[in-house]
Amino acid sequence: MSKIIVTGGCGYIGSHTVIALIDQGYKVVVFDDFSNASEDTLDRIAKITGIRPLFTRVDLKEKIKVLEAFNEHKEAKAVIHFAAYKAVKESINNPLDYYENNLFSLINVLNAQQAVGINNFIFSSSATVYGMPESFPMTENSPVKRPFSPYGNTKKIAEEILEDYTNANTKLSFISLRYFNPIGAHDSGHIGELPSGIPNNLMPYITQTAAGLRDKLWVFGDDYPTKDGTAVRDYIHVVDLAEAHLAALQYLMKNQQKANYEIYNLGTGQGYSVLEVIKSFELANNLRLNYEITSRREGDVAVMYASTDLAKQVLGWSAKRDLKSMVASAWKWEQNFRK
Ligand code: WQD
Repeated sequence: MSKIIVTGGCGYIGSHTVIALIDQGYKVVVFDDFSNASEDTLDRIAKITGIRPLFTRVDLKEKIKVLEAFNEHKEAKAVIHFAAYKAVKESINNPLDYYENNLFSLINVLNAQQAVGINNFIFSSSATVYGMPESFPMTENSPVKRPFSPYGNTKKIAEEILEDYTNANTKLSFISLRYFNPIGAHDSGHIGELPSGIPNNLMPYITQTAAGLRDKLWVFGDDYPTKDGTAVRDYIHVVDLAEAHLAALQYLMKNQQKANYEIYNLGTGQGYSVLEVIKSFELANNLRLNYEITSRREGDVAVMYASTDLAKQVLGWSAKRDLKSMVASAWKWEQNFRK
């Protein structure tokens, strides 16, 4: 079966995608530098799938090392590129680290895969490129705006690099996948989100509060123009997201792309408010969560959810898992991880 290179394959979405690839029979090689992941994720993947993926520890900012790593796996059929720093707040405080890491890594990977003749590439992008939306749902043609954070801007600039590069190189087949809000964990409870330090994102903050690591969840604003005043997002189960990468890969390998660079939203098409997520978490896990409303977080948008028509029509993919399974799997992982 074909070999796939997965950069950042020890990360949250990367590791779940590696599992889906191995389950589908692909041979996987992971490139990771453990800057935001740990090596034991490879053991956890082996525990779940029975197969430990091939692995090369490499800092993708080191051009020569990246070329050497790709040379070891020149028979690979595609690259799925997850490796990037992704903490919004951190990016605001350290913008150059984010531009250097996320963009130098991308360019080194693109040069290396061209050097060994790999033409299929899937890029991990983000709905954050839509900035402050004017209308809903977000389609792939919704205007892309200057994202609020340097992190988001690295995703926007990366997409522009891919567009220019594929315009200049017709034999390439590239896809960008714009994730909405990935949450949850593999139902084995053996892998999940591993935020370092105080979590910025809602779901890990909820599970750490429920686990007693945080004394309460602060709800950032209940004065938004939404049904209960709290902000609405399109939460998507990370396993649905992983399966979407498989669908995109299979579509690329069939060489039926209409254009050599295409973009797809990955969401459920359903928005939930913060309070709805909290209520669902309490109900699904039979517990009470300690939370308090506070002021809005700077840079947050009121509402964001996806149109999922294009991924369904072209990739034949749509999200299958509901909010209850997302919040239940997140809690199961938190409890297992803390054991
Ligand atoms: C969700 C909602 C918060 C924490 C970010 C990135 C995006 C992507 C996903 C990488 C918002 C509220 C949160 C808390 C809260 N990441 N919240 N209390 O901001 O939609 O998107 O993560 O690709 O690029 O921008 O996700 O989980 O941070 O917030 O009330 O302690 O939960 O205000 O309404 P967000 P989030």
